[in-house]
Amino acid sequence: MQKNLEDKLFQILKIIETKVEENADYFKSITIEFYKTDKVQKAEVYINSNNELIFEMKKIKKIINRYEIALHIIENSKSYENCSIKYMERGSNMLVWTEKGNVKVKNTEANNIEQNIAHSDVGTRSNRNYIIKVGEADDLLKEIGIMNHEGRVRNDMIRKYNQIDHFVELIDPLLKEISDKENINILDCACGKSYLSFVLNFYIKEKLKKQCNFVCIDISENVIQASKKMAQNLNYKNMEFVQMDIQNYQPDKRIDLVISLHGCDIATDMAMAAGVRFDAKAIVVVPCCHSEILNQYDFPLLKEVIKHGVLKARMADVLTEGIRILLLESMGYEVSIVEYISPLDTPKNLLIKAIKRSGRNKKSYDEYIKLKEVLDINPSLARLLNI
Ligand SMILES: C[S@@+](CC[C@H](N)C(=O)[O-])C[C@H]1O[C@@H](n2cnc3c(N)ncnc32)[C@H](O)[C@@H]1O
Repeated sequence: MQKNLEDKLFQILKIIETKVEENADYFKSITIEFYKTDKVQKAEVYINSNNELIFEMKKIKKIINRYEIALHIIENSKSYENCSIKYMERGSNMLVWTEKGNVKVKNTEANNIEQNIAHSDVGTRSNRNYIIKVGEADDLLKEIGIMNHEGRVRNDMIRKYNQIDHFVELIDPLLKEISDKENINILDCACGKSYLSFVLNFYIKEKLKKQCNFVCIDISENVIQASKKMAQNLNYKNMEFVQMDIQNYQPDKRIDLVISLHGCDIATDMAMAAGVRFDAKAIVVVPCCHSEILNQYDFPLLKEVIKHGVLKARMADVLTEGIRILLLESMGYEVSIVEYISPLDTPKNLLIKAIKRSGRNKKSYDEYIKLKEVLDINPSLARLLNI
């Protein structure tokens, strides 16, 4: 390769070295092809299972550091006329090639695949244009068990697929609002097998093209081990899984968003309290079953209505979410609540979205105190918030 072409290529390879360092959590590999008349020689730079950076050519593997990538490629290009280099990270690729004495560069989308509804008729069946699409997110959908190995969405997982996809759709504007230019740090409380975090990770990194980190907490060791395995299989390195009671968690970095999907009973309150405690910009939860307020409240004025158990339970559901919202408002959050999917998919279909807007709000707090006295209740969220 001519010296001046080598110099130009070296400059671009230095940019690739910086990307390997800055995007270490997302780096996949660099594949290289060297060309000479009708000869092609392949080489690759990748991370092995010991987390070492490897340069491999002609079956010879060499451990290198990331400052040596450019050097190795240039050294090996000397006896060839041209080369092409493909840098791959999650969500984007960079293609570099030499042609007629020049170096050309093209950035491409890694998921630039047509939405392949033909793979699966789920799109037509639910009449929904999915955000996490079959054809684009197949590795993810297979790993989390929504898609089978033949590339079809499993019938028994369509509800889960809908739930997750609706969740992403509803928080999309919020993600754009809070992620700004920085990394977005997300805490998933009562994560279970972390489906929601895996899907959000895919969406934020590979669709919104933003950096993100996840901490997923659950009290059950089994689901944490299962989540770790899935992250390993997907090569998602920007996730940490912690087996712990939410109440005991202390973050070592800023938390921007707290999420929780179907955290049972007061796990939802713990997630909300964690969001307030860590001064999260936003908290998004889909509550699950809860019995606390049902077992506490009384309302003599409505005694003729709530003497029917089923009505008392329904009223308790409404009061539980209403009081949670009031408490978040009193901590300075702007809160909305919607039915985010059909109650036929799951009756636990309310999504509460809270965005930090101000300091404490005395008016909401006073309203909460009035309600607490009238209903004779002592909700966990107030205790967890120390108010
Ligand atoms: C219904 S599952 C939901 C899991 C997951 N978010 C999902 O939607 O698939 C509820 C999870 O809450 C976890 N959990 C309950 N109390 C908890 C606590 N105090 N701290 C951490 N996790 C808790 C359980 O172990 C369980 O995995």
